[in-house]
Amino acid sequence: MPASVIVGLQWGDEGKGKTTDFLAEQVAMVVRYQGGDNAGHTIVIGEDTFKLHLVPSGVLYGHITPVIGPGVVVNPATLLREFDELTARGIDVSHVRVSHAASLILPYHVALDKAREAALGGAKVGTTGRGIGPAYEDRAARTGLRVEDLIDPASAATRLARALPEKRALLKALNAEDAAAVDADAIAKQIAAWGERLRPDTTDLVQRALAAGEHLLFEGAQGTLLDLSHGSYPYVTSSHPIAGGAATGGGIAPMQIDEVMGVMKAYATRVGSGPFVTELTDAIGERITTTGHEVGTTTGRRRRVGWNDALPLRYAVQLNGVSSIMLNKLDVLSGIPEILLCVAYEIDGKRVERWPSSTAEMERATPIYERFPGWSEPIHQVRALADLPENARRYVTALEEIAGAPIVLLSVGPERTQTIERAWRPMRRATKRA
Ligand code: GDP
Ligand code: IMO
Ligand code: MG
Repeated sequence: MPASVIVGLQWGDEGKGKTTDFLAEQVAMVVRYQGGDNAGHTIVIGEDTFKLHLVPSGVLYGHITPVIGPGVVVNPATLLREFDELTARGIDVSHVRVSHAASLILPYHVALDKAREAALGGAKVGTTGRGIGPAYEDRAARTGLRVEDLIDPASAATRLARALPEKRALLKALNAEDAAAVDADAIAKQIAAWGERLRPDTTDLVQRALAAGEHLLFEGAQGTLLDLSHGSYPYVTSSHPIAGGAATGGGIAPMQIDEVMGVMKAYATRVGSGPFVTELTDAIGERITTTGHEVGTTTGRRRRVGWNDALPLRYAVQLNGVSSIMLNKLDVLSGIPEILLCVAYEIDGKRVERWPSSTAEMERATPIYERFPGWSEPIHQVRALADLPENARRYVTALEEIAGAPIVLLSVGPERTQTIERAWRPMRRATKRA
């Protein structure tokens, strides 16, 4: 049952794109299982940088079937734009498959997302404004359109006619009337045009590949601490990035997953609102933001940065059943004299060592740090753990002990080959397209 899940252990942007691309060489299929074009996954190969929002990160290999699974919310406009951009750069996207059961993001979802955020003012979630929440709401309410509706204009028109009056009323109530976003004829025309180019696929694609003995990789978007049920609600996304989400959103059974690789950075970042106990607002934070290019891939927003934090890390490892870890961006900490690692919180005068599920408690928490001496030399060229500066190795060991899972891959730069392979179970190489 060779299915591996790649899951973000923090608040997203851990480098899942690089990790997926690195591991994809050895699999037949890469499946996105949740989220939508709120994701921004970066892959760097030589001088070329690719920023993917919906197309799974395996697309850069010719032998891979990239699959957009039933748990994803798809904005066809974004997906087709991404297809065109990749094609223009010589990447073959003809093998990308989209589940007929994936939900559509339509213009009114985007308008509602923005209108709700505007109405919340200072209490806003800080969404990416891509319509993610409203599209998942419609899926749960059973009023949404799905990818299958792209090839059935009559069904699409009926479902739209049912949905639109409520959307118009909602936008009006939010003082955000937007005629274009709720124009039935215009949306129906757009759906028909998208249907010409996007053919939905069956959900048993994944099961057939597994039955044929292929190795599959499930690529998570966002991160554990943005999970709808397990993150700091309401400052979360509207899907389940955790490994369990790969089962529902990818169409596999939990027992078919035999490896969960957690992806984390050497420090922490967060985009959008919500508690961030180890946030740095000083010159060190500024330095990490600049050196680590911590600017949102999707929105261009500056990411908040902070020290690593043992509490959410342990929580994420447990929740996902992480069997191995890829630690990214270790190079960004070169030259910082002292590296801090949060080992406990103080909440209302008490020492707390377990992640408090309560967002209110988290907002009152202050960090208790352990301090590690830094290292001065750049490490981009290092390819073996033994060649890392001793203080870097000490910090890596501390993270590994806290996580309770082995760090098997370390990344020392954005490029595909800037990777230290410590010890990891090689997967089987794909021989044919699934
Ligand atoms: P994702 O959403 O988890 O795929 O991560 P993003 O692509 O949004 O953000 C990660 C950023 O870090 C990207 O710009 C990557 O190219 C870059 N990156 C990944 N690994 C490393 C690394 O080890 N060192 C450095 N300096 N950059 C990295
Ligand atoms: P990748 O896959 C980081 C954050 C937003 C906001 C919250 C809700 O690149 O790691 P949404 O638009 O999803 O309703 O916004 O989630 N967010 C991300 N943060 N990386 C992402 O994706 C994110 N996708 C959403 O900033 O706080
Ligand atoms: Mg990202």
